Amino acid sequence: MHDLGCIVLCAGQGTRMKTKRPKVLHEAAGKALYAWSLDWALALKANPIQAVLGYEKEQVREGIENHYGKQVQTVVQDKQRGTGHAVQVAFENLAPCKRVLVLYGDTPLLTLDTLKALCLLQENTKSEISMLTAYVKNPFGYGRIVRDNNIKEIIEERNASAEQKEITEINPGIYVFDYEFLKAGLANLKPNEVTKELYLTDLIAQAQKPIGSIEVSDKEIVGVNDMVQLAKADRLLRRRINEEWMREGVEMLDYKTTYIDSEVKLSPGVVLEQGVILRGACEIGPGVRIGAYSVLQDAKVGENSIVGPFARLRPGAVLESDCKIGNFVEVKKSHFGKGSKASHLAYIGDAEIGEACNIGAGTITCNYDGQKKHKTKIDNGVFMGSNATLVAPLHLGDSSYVGAGSVINQDVPAKALGLGRARQENKKDWVKK
Ligand code: UD1
Ligand code: CA
Repeated sequence: MHDLGCIVLCAGQGTRMKTKRPKVLHEAAGKALYAWSLDWALALKANPIQAVLGYEKEQVREGIENHYGKQVQTVVQDKQRGTGHAVQVAFENLAPCKRVLVLYGDTPLLTLDTLKALCLLQENTKSEISMLTAYVKNPFGYGRIVRDNNIKEIIEERNASAEQKEITEINPGIYVFDYEFLKAGLANLKPNEVTKELYLTDLIAQAQKPIGSIEVSDKEIVGVNDMVQLAKADRLLRRRINEEWMREGVEMLDYKTTYIDSEVKLSPGVVLEQGVILRGACEIGPGVRIGAYSVLQDAKVGENSIVGPFARLRPGAVLESDCKIGNFVEVKKSHFGKGSKASHLAYIGDAEIGEACNIGAGTITCNYDGQKKHKTKIDNGVFMGSNATLVAPLHLGDSSYVGAGSVINQDVPAKALGLGRARQENKKDWVKK
């Protein structure tokens, strides 16, 4: 039997986002909100993992399937009849396991450490329920934790008495349940008298044994409900990511203007200048310097290379070690061999470039003929004069040269000079005439 199962609640519309796009597809630190929860579930080796979808279910399912394949199953909650109902729907499809972690798809500020601790607590105490709690300044909208030392019950805002509304210890909505307890408890849930919803929180009062709890900082538990909270979550996550990398030996000249997505991999000795944006799954090797205001997405940069300032590396840009990509150079789906350089003002797309090449200022690969993309292959030690126009498909042989200002639309053999430009003519005394 499986040990830990996980249910992630993603059915909500998120009306306060005011967008058509389902809330959980919005991104914080470059990662969809739901993916934060699913990644934790995977990191905890939860299996099965069940995501509950509702609003715009097709869009969300597509996102999940593309990224997680069979690791995550999805189930649809057609009408949102409360958190208890959402978990019921998921539970019906959940393969048996020992305990079940319940997460929301809109709380990206939690941490894996916190969830590990919660699972461990449940494992050690064998409690029916282990849950997080937090003290918040403004508890409005949250379920309040009612205690007589132990946790007794959770009262929702809309059902709370004036006195209970004063309680500032709240329910973040993250629990680990004993599987058998959850099974029986879900079967016993009754609709709330006021809202007719099924409350997952009603399970608390059903527990016979003491409920385990871990208090966490209010910063970890804020959900994303509108664009302001999304922006705040993004900022907090990015701050965390930056601090983690700085502790790993990455130098940031201004960490406040450095934007690193959650999947990016850096190395010790990397220097990031002001305003650098690293998106997607970038991998940056040791000793690399990324100059100010450079934007990299899904790019790989090898050891001791220098990029920017003002450079753009698009998906599929791969630089081996000791390369140089200078200002206003755009590289897309191209490979630069060791020590190759494009120092100024160039567009390199769909190109395979060997070692120790020099791509002159203004070099453009014409990789697109309006219908198809074509490849440019440049062997080792090629020297490109400034403003070369390379009409692909094209092959430049080892140690060949291309004259400045050339339009090159035929292959250049190894060690040859390719020239493709009108010869200059000076008209004597032209001004006088
Ligand atoms: C719930 C808790 C409350 C807690 C709060 C923390 C209950 C009854 N109350 O409040 O104690 O303080 O979370 O944020 O559980 N969802 C579904 N299907 C549904 C309803 C909700 O998938 O039918 C999902 C939502 O998309 C969201 C999450 O569950 O991700 C929480 O739903 P929300 O309506 O925000 O929670 P509340 O019931 O207000
Ligand atoms: Ca909420």
